Amino acid sequence: MATMDDSENFPVNPRIAAGAATMGDMISQRLSRRGFLGGLGAVSGLALVGCATGREVPVPTGDLQAQPVFRFDEIARGMDETHHVAAGYDADVLIRWGDPLFSDSPAFDPLNQTAAAQRRQFGYNNDFIGYVPLKADDAGRERAILCINHEYTSTNIMLPGVVAGYPASMTRALCEVEMAAHGGTILEIRKENGAWKPVVGSPYNRRITADTTPMQLTGPAAGSARLQTAEDPTGTMVSGTMNNCAGGITPWGTYLMAEENFNGNFMGELPEGHREAENHKRYGVPSGWYQWGRFFDRYDVSKEPNEPNRFGWIVEVDPMDPNSVPKKRTALGRVKHEGAESVVAPDGRVVVYTGDDQRFDYVYKFVTKGKFVAGNKAANADLLDEGTLYVARFDADGTLAWLPLVYGTGPLTEENGFASQADVLIGTRRAGDLLGATPMDRPEDVEPNAKTGRVYVMLTNNDRRTEDQVDAANPRASNRFGHIIEIIEPEGDFTSETSRWEILVKCGDPSIAQVGATWNPLTTENGWLASPDNCAIDPQGRLWISTDGNDDTGAADGLWALETDGDRRGTGQHFFRCPVGAEMCGPRFNESGDALFLAVQHPGDTDGASFEAPSTRWPDFAEAMPPRPSVMVVTRQGGGPIGG
Ligand code: FEO
Ligand code: CA
Ligand code: CA
Ligand code: CA
Repeated sequence: MATMDDSENFPVNPRIAAGAATMGDMISQRLSRRGFLGGLGAVSGLALVGCATGREVPVPTGDLQAQPVFRFDEIARGMDETHHVAAGYDADVLIRWGDPLFSDSPAFDPLNQTAAAQRRQFGYNNDFIGYVPLKADDAGRERAILCINHEYTSTNIMLPGVVAGYPASMTRALCEVEMAAHGGTILEIRKENGAWKPVVGSPYNRRITADTTPMQLTGPAAGSARLQTAEDPTGTMVSGTMNNCAGGITPWGTYLMAEENFNGNFMGELPEGHREAENHKRYGVPSGWYQWGRFFDRYDVSKEPNEPNRFGWIVEVDPMDPNSVPKKRTALGRVKHEGAESVVAPDGRVVVYTGDDQRFDYVYKFVTKGKFVAGNKAANADLLDEGTLYVARFDADGTLAWLPLVYGTGPLTEENGFASQADVLIGTRRAGDLLGATPMDRPEDVEPNAKTGRVYVMLTNNDRRTEDQVDAANPRASNRFGHIIEIIEPEGDFTSETSRWEILVKCGDPSIAQVGATWNPLTTENGWLASPDNCAIDPQGRLWISTDGNDDTGAADGLWALETDGDRRGTGQHFFRCPVGAEMCGPRFNESGDALFLAVQHPGDTDGASFEAPSTRWPDFAEAMPPRPSVMVVTRQGGGPIGG
């Protein structure tokens, strides 16, 4: 999310607050950037191209499988009230906030919103998009299920009359509208006469909300006393999920929803001396961005101190069964998860990559104990309940050490307050602190490329990193524009405990020397981006980046193609741009690569914008209609793969 800052909770990583250098920090800082690049060159045959203005990009000399280059005419940077896509492509709205999902869904009435109506309609602030193919129907029409997260509510432009004095004007009923607008949507889509359309009333369609969808806690932390509440004395069942940012689709076709900024939904003060005090502080709980705790005890930590521990998990949903109970998979740890993209390793185990989106927090991967069995739903059903969670330490010599978060090993013992694996998982951040993980510049989407054995880490930005906190993997102080790291898993073994890493690009405007951006010089004035957030790999193995904060540079957020291979490595090309106020989420391709699904989140939400006076009324441009977060589908005129 872009509009709810976490400044009031900063800093939450005590290693940063204390200014203490860990062993990992010292290793990272010992070698200079020059030494780092030299080391990489020696190991993997990298050459440097570029000019003297800090635009050097390491270019591999043949150790990657060649990907086809992008072929499209990029669009111009800019910002206005609507969206833009590259020439020769169509970008159509597929579904908007408030659109019907079921045959009995009420018509959207923005002036008279109710929770009951919202539970039957497409939710707010679409973020992650997952694509699960279905068999064509009897008429031969292509079909699929989209799994879409609804991350949060931009209350100021969503609800009439609440912008001035948000806390006072929020009622219980409006808080329930917000809860109903969170969560996810599962939606069947079908291609009719060449155009993808929602199938209203499909038996697959489902709304998942923050308050009314029962979910089961599974894995090592399930049942922990620290997860028990008055509503759930067993510590195994939770009503709802919230702040679902990015996510993933597993190799067996389930939908992973990542719970991110859950701290904002809690208010109140913990009872004096409560055992969760330190833990909650590490996660910035409570933040009180939302008013729900005024009306519902579970969101007030003075009344339900354990409730925040029931959020921050990866939730697995079976999109084929609308009556299935989603599972919060505690084995994957509890952080502000941005996403959960997965891949099958050569030995059949499954690896899930996640980022903890906070300044100075960490990158993780989870390796299942069991192996994926293709075509066997039952065998894969609980793979995510057992395995090893690792946190990343990026060393200055280009080595990446994956440090296991296992109770009883290293510092994860009783002396440090961990009495079980449940404690390690509920306090994942502190476990990472003790292991000396590398504090990163807001890790967002982390996406493996099954074709190349490489993994891409979006580091959105971190304007609070000081000169003495710079390290090889986070090389810029006051990093306003972010960077992208490429992890190289040895010989494509995603389960490896030792990997290599390098910086693919440092983002921002390469024409301003002080920015310190590094792009391939082939990048045009439109091709660079700032604040990478989500990414996608297309069926040809190519990388696409969406942004949340490019608008800080004066041009709208959007989607860029980014070459990772050959002599164009590090070249960006601008493909799509959002309307003013929006960030770009959810890039996702269908199997053939001839359709690209994009989530336009919080259009019209600029400083001072309100329901009554948004900065755009995209996509309807109707006088009484607020701007509506929407999922778009991009296709190529005449057909063919997106991006050429
Ligand atoms: Fe919800 Fe990390 O963006
Ligand atoms: Ca975001
Ligand atoms: Ca995001
Ligand atoms: Ca992604």
